[in-house]
Amino acid sequence: MVCLGNICRSPIAEGILKSKINSNKAVVDSAGTGHWHIGNKPDPRSIEVAKKHQLDITNQRGRQFSIQDFDSFDYIFVMDTSNKENVLSLARNDSDKEKVHLILDELFPNENVDVPDPYYGGGQGFEDVYQMLDEACESIVNRL
Ligand code: 4NP
Repeated sequence: MVCLGNICRSPIAEGILKSKINSNKAVVDSAGTGHWHIGNKPDPRSIEVAKKHQLDITNQRGRQFSIQDFDSFDYIFVMDTSNKENVLSLARNDSDKEKVHLILDELFPNENVDVPDPYYGGGQGFEDVYQMLDEACESIVNRL
């Protein structure tokens, strides 16, 4: 699960997908394309919205997406088209590129719908993000 800062959207996505998937069958992680929040906890508003939905994401720490992630993961879900461009710019070959998916393609295939960045907005933005990611993760789990 990849966003820009790895403190707002992708930590929520990581928490949701982990809660829906058998940890013996899949490794779920998140990262940001930016470096600003390496080592930081998720944004308090992400922690809060996750807690409201019975998810504890307080143990997550920010990290930056790296080329090695193409080797470690089969699927790379990005939150928006800008994240997608940033991740694709690091891809070494077609196999790397094929792993990268806009997460809301799960719900709206080929419509290029972004998970909006809630960083500069209010609390409702985080709830909206939670709901979109919950639906998308449900679809991912059913499909995989
Ligand atoms: P995220 O939101 O990509 O959903 O984690 C952001 C968090 C921080 C910043 C940008 C986006 N930032 O510029 O610090």
